[in-house]
Amino acid sequence: MTTQTDDTHVKIFDTTLRDGEQAPGFSMSTDAKLVVARALQALNVDIIEAGFAAASPGDTAAVRAVAEEITGPVICSLSRLNEADIEASARAIEPAAKKRIHTFIGTSPTHREAKLKLTKDEILKRISETVRFARSACEDIEFSPEDAIRTERDYLLEAVWAAIEAGAATINIPDTVGYTTPEEIADLFRFLKAETAGAENVVFSTHCHDDLGMAVANSLAAVRGGARQIECAINGIGERAGNCSMEEAVMALATRRDFFGLETQVETTKLYPASVALSRVTHNPIPRNKAIVGKNAFAHEAGIHQHGVLADKRTYEIMDAAAVGMPSNAIVLGKHSGKHALAARVKALGFKVSKHKIEDIFPDFKRLADTCREVTDADLVKLVTGNAYTDGRAGPWRMRRTELRADVEDGTRPYARITMEHDNGDRRTVAHDGDGPIDAAFAAVCAIADVPGRISVLDLHHLAAEGVVRAEAVVEVDDRLFTGHAQEVDIADAAVAAFVAAVNQAAAMRASAPAEEEMAATQ
Ligand code: KIV
Ligand code: ZN
Repeated sequence: MTTQTDDTHVKIFDTTLRDGEQAPGFSMSTDAKLVVARALQALNVDIIEAGFAAASPGDTAAVRAVAEEITGPVICSLSRLNEADIEASARAIEPAAKKRIHTFIGTSPTHREAKLKLTKDEILKRISETVRFARSACEDIEFSPEDAIRTERDYLLEAVWAAIEAGAATINIPDTVGYTTPEEIADLFRFLKAETAGAENVVFSTHCHDDLGMAVANSLAAVRGGARQIECAINGIGERAGNCSMEEAVMALATRRDFFGLETQVETTKLYPASVALSRVTHNPIPRNKAIVGKNAFAHEAGIHQHGVLADKRTYEIMDAAAVGMPSNAIVLGKHSGKHALAARVKALGFKVSKHKIEDIFPDFKRLADTCREVTDADLVKLVTGNAYTDGRAGPWRMRRTELRADVEDGTRPYARITMEHDNGDRRTVAHDGDGPIDAAFAAVCAIADVPGRISVLDLHHLAAEGVVRAEAVVEVDDRLFTGHAQEVDIADAAVAAFVAAVNQAAAMRASAPAEEEMAATQ
């Protein structure tokens, strides 16, 4: 098949569901894979590698489920270079409107001698015969000489020729062990493009692992050398240290269009939602400092930075949070923050306070910031209104009793019965059902506090040495996010207590903001 390519278009080949899913701690059920596949469809990636059909019946089912439902991207399945694997892939991707088989064999000396125990010629013969077989099963064939980076250049060229002659339209050059450097890989792609007969009719692809932390840099360098497909994964997941991170590669190409002069067709505003979807289904939090999608990626705490960003975002931001689908730009209030940031946040909460009032509360704000990592919105409400709660609570509710039931009879749902008490003496008990007992408890807490909360992130860490669970709950209320923390011996108690801490902030805010008298006094 001849592939027509616009030379400025870089295809995004997503392998979250194959290479990513292979990594320990990231395996996904078919339902979980479908959640991620829908996020990839929304991103408008060119190709989704949905799995390795021959690996297990579960993998076959998952690839087929993706092929049945997802439209738009090409659906691809990985196969070793043998007929049985290729047939398994062909059957699994059969329902897809656009389909591809990706087949590979090791070509480096280590792979030939230690793993395959095949000679160079035997491997070349296998490539010719089996890629031809694959081509009879599917029109769109991609071939990878595994461990290409550590393969002798002249032999790599022979392997690539054999695959193209047998009908492969995409030649992927994997850095299987994450060993290359940007200069080296750019040079390799230039060499392959120059020396491959018919190079103009195939797409060269890059697939970099992150063992030395250079997967994104190497992928971008490969593109500079002539690659027009990047194999990557959401949040950079993949074997060992992972693959090239999709959000980083895509945003580098978009933000530095002036330098690369290249385009992808990715809908960048769907990057953050896809990252969150993957994090949710695999139960792996997004690292706070992760480029593009981490909590800190668009957050500023230092006073000088906050002043600059408030004056003009371009002072310290090269991208807009909205461009990657992040809910909002975060000015994190901490001990490094100044009066500009404090005034901006107080204003955003709905208070119309005078300059004088800001001067007034600033010393208390600094004192508070010294004692905690982050000054929350609820802390600010307390500072502005003068409200004070005891026990370190941020709001008026106190937890009195928690009863969770998961072992319910057939046909009934898990439920929770929660009792809470308001500082004004109001004691309320609510029983609620849910998808699980914790979900039910969250619903009951919201009903009691009359706060329309929705859990956005729940992080639980078991601290084995201390024998406690530390929980962080991010709860969305009226388009605002409130973060609650708690530490308990029991995991469920920790989750519910963190949720209550967040809801308490929202309740305090709703009860006091904007303070009428405060507004009146400053108008
Ligand atoms: O890293 C690798 O070599 C692979 C191939 C199967 C493409 O994942
Ligand atoms: Zn790989």
